[in-house]
Amino acid sequence: MDIIKKLENRTFTDGELIRVIENGCEGLRERADEIRRQVYGRAVYIRGLIEFTNYCKNNCYYCGIRHGNGRLERYRLTKEEILLCCEEGYRLGFRTFVLQGGEDPYFGDDLICDIISAIRRKYEDCAITLSIGEKSRESYEAFYKAGANRYLLRHETADNAHYSKLHPASMSLENRKRCLFDLKEIGYQVGSGFMVGSPFQTAQNLVSDIRFLMELEPDMIGIGPFIRHNDTPFAKYESGSLELTLRLISILRLVFPWALLPSTTALGTIHPMGREMGLKAGANVVMPNLSPVSVRKLYSLYDNKICTGDESAQCRSCLENRVKNAGYEIVTDIGNVKRK
Ligand code: 5AD
Ligand code: FES
Repeated sequence: MDIIKKLENRTFTDGELIRVIENGCEGLRERADEIRRQVYGRAVYIRGLIEFTNYCKNNCYYCGIRHGNGRLERYRLTKEEILLCCEEGYRLGFRTFVLQGGEDPYFGDDLICDIISAIRRKYEDCAITLSIGEKSRESYEAFYKAGANRYLLRHETADNAHYSKLHPASMSLENRKRCLFDLKEIGYQVGSGFMVGSPFQTAQNLVSDIRFLMELEPDMIGIGPFIRHNDTPFAKYESGSLELTLRLISILRLVFPWALLPSTTALGTIHPMGREMGLKAGANVVMPNLSPVSVRKLYSLYDNKICTGDESAQCRSCLENRVKNAGYEIVTDIGNVKRK
């Protein structure tokens, strides 16, 4: 059986997967595009990203908003500001709002629940996605009751030794996995994922990532290249490559035909046509920024992040054109995952 079939049937060995990761294989991208067309047609879903706080108590070595970065000006949006972003987003056709932030203790469970309920009351027909890091099961349950229905939490790497090279000892892969399985059990649609080309990453690590995802079976899988940030311990490391990221998107499409795969901002940052190439490689989601322009530069996960100067409406129409030019079509429905 050829390797493409083995990926689709999930019968590949580690060695076979490593060979595809390292060298690619003939027809991979074309097959991935064919499968996404079978499952999702030409539809590309949009999610409006609201980056509501850049305070973070964690110190991940790769991330620009880490606690230890004393050079960054910090901000928090108020509930009213967040609601204004939603209002603008709704007008522009967004039916999913992603509230993303650092792990900021200022936003306690009550405040988060209050914000979620307010959005839920106004936008019954929208999905509310949270991306606010590791919390207790009780917190996740409270957010869910308040009206949140999706959660994004990348596992970052599924290898313990690699995990501890990217994070300080206060963080553990074990707790991250606990969070992901809790979220799933509670009933959230869950998104996970990892960075491509993060420092010390090996092909075997990427195999572990894919095997872990097969265990978790998330609805969404977000991947993007690692990009250096000047004010982090990883300032001197090379960015992940475009080629490898695209190849992994295609592999993911084969192994997870129903998954929602975003073509990420990080991909658009390492190459001007990165997001278009991501779509052609098998991705079917884009996540334009709905944050107020005044704070966009401050949500600096990595250097040279794109779209920091554009109004939400500009971002939205820019993406509309990009998606169209790549041969796909933005749809404005809620964009739930499709299962067999
Ligand atoms: N380069 C690329 N991606 C990054 N992220 C954080 N820092 C970086 C970086 N330097 C990603 C992480 C996180 C997501 C919100 O952004 O994977 O989960
Ligand atoms: Fe934001 Fe293009 S997507 S300006």
